[in-house]
Amino acid sequence: MLSRSSVGRFAVVSAADFLPEERTLDALRTAAAGCRGCDLWEPATQTVFSRGDTGARLMLVGEQPGDQEDLQGKPFVGPAGRVLVKALDEAGVDRDDAYVTNAVKHFKFTPRGNRRIHATPDASEAAACRPWLRAEIEVVAPELVVLLGATAAKTVYGSGFRVTKQRGAVMEWPTAGGPHALATIHPSAVLRADDRESAFAGLVADLRVAKEVLA
Ligand code: URA
Ligand code: SF4
Repeated sequence: MLSRSSVGRFAVVSAADFLPEERTLDALRTAAAGCRGCDLWEPATQTVFSRGDTGARLMLVGEQPGDQEDLQGKPFVGPAGRVLVKALDEAGVDRDDAYVTNAVKHFKFTPRGNRRIHATPDASEAAACRPWLRAEIEVVAPELVVLLGATAAKTVYGSGFRVTKQRGAVMEWPTAGGPHALATIHPSAVLRADDRESAFAGLVADLRVAKEVLA
């Protein structure tokens, strides 16, 4: 892998080159603010790292910040965040105790007029950003990680993972000593669904499984 120090004009290929030596959330947050591990940093406003603390037993992993998150610098503060909060409440999961983050820490979008339309991060961007998530899991050491949608699930389990088939099941982490994991749909899939009510109910049902694991 190329590193910054190899040849100046070559692109840096991942967040690994920006990880701090000190493994605390503060150190990670500070370092991630300056990450240039892929091209997504440039058009975005800022790195959106996470919300929550090292004491959290539950980690929620989304896809990437959206328009509102990019502007405010916090994960899940827009429309998808409102769905997530409602689903967590309905499932009886204490959201204030959860550590909330994303697989990709910069907002990827396509400009259209004066609007910014969400664009799905590709596998290389998700891979470039993965060192942050890995470090967060190491520092927070949650008991359970809930993967919200395909990008988060594939980041952990690879491109063959199918949320539609494998959602709602408690899984082992792919590497030894990791947390348990559970995949479910992304809250924004509820907003896009033809039948929002049943999509929401499905999200809540999966989060109830998470609650049982933590009970
Ligand atoms: N969607 C996500 O996946 N994460 C956010 O933080 C907001 C919307
Ligand atoms: Fe770094 Fe991730 Fe942002 Fe790419 S998306 S610049 S890897 S923080």
